[in-house]
Amino acid sequence: MNENSNAAFSFQLNLSKWNIVYTAIAISAVLTVIPLAMYGIEKQGIVNWLDATGRAGMITFTAAFIASPLHKLFPNSFSRWLLKNRRFLGIGFGFQHLIFHLPAVIWFLIIAKVPLDAMITGGLGFILVIFMLITSFNAPAKWIGARNWKILHTTGMFYLMYVFIISFYPGISGNPSLNQTYLTNYGLFELTLLVAVFLRIMIFARKMKRVISKQTSEQQIRS
Ligand code: HEM
Repeated sequence: MNENSNAAFSFQLNLSKWNIVYTAIAISAVLTVIPLAMYGIEKQGIVNWLDATGRAGMITFTAAFIASPLHKLFPNSFSRWLLKNRRFLGIGFGFQHLIFHLPAVIWFLIIAKVPLDAMITGGLGFILVIFMLITSFNAPAKWIGARNWKILHTTGMFYLMYVFIISFYPGISGNPSLNQTYLTNYGLFELTLLVAVFLRIMIFARKMKRVISKQTSEQQIRS
């Protein structure tokens, strides 16, 4: 795909760079207002607010997560658009989660009991989101250095993916067990996350195959 097809894709969606961040924030804002307007700040309203903002963040996060492997495996105008805007998808997710999911979490903690392990797992997720968001800007990224940036963003990306996978796992924290309701309301989200991880595994396997075949041919030359 060339620059023209990428421009055409951006034009069709009219979405690139900071517009992605603003759109992500606007979507989560709407998904905050709707449940609160419908159910108020009662438990049901807060749970719906948590679910809606958690799911919105999941979509933006997954788009950033798959950008590179998708473009390597199946390059097309969409994957090029994802890759080009990956940083803004990540920033959009960070703002969505910190501005909208975090207040919902705090509110929920005030009105309901959350198991300690869930608080630790999710809390660590938020800490990573904060550091990843800050270092998505040039000056802090430069300050921590390329190596630390890579360690932070790779670890954070896989940890957050783990939190998302367990958030949609059957039978966990109020989720239904593996039944028709689960498949209808959660199945597609969980499947999308698993496919995203599978794309990364495919890239990793391809890289390993290249390393092994390079080592084998070097050994053959030496012997
Ligand atoms: C201390 C931190 C956190 C707490 C206490 C928390 C709590 C919750 C609660 C209570 C729900 C609603 C579950 C239900 O429907 O019964 C929820 C939904 C959700 N959370 Fe969080 N959360 C935290 C952090 C995070 C983080 C860091 C992520 C992502 C990386 C995340 C992703 C999600 C998602 C995707 C949903 C929607 C799941 C669904 O639709 O059932 N949460 N959260």
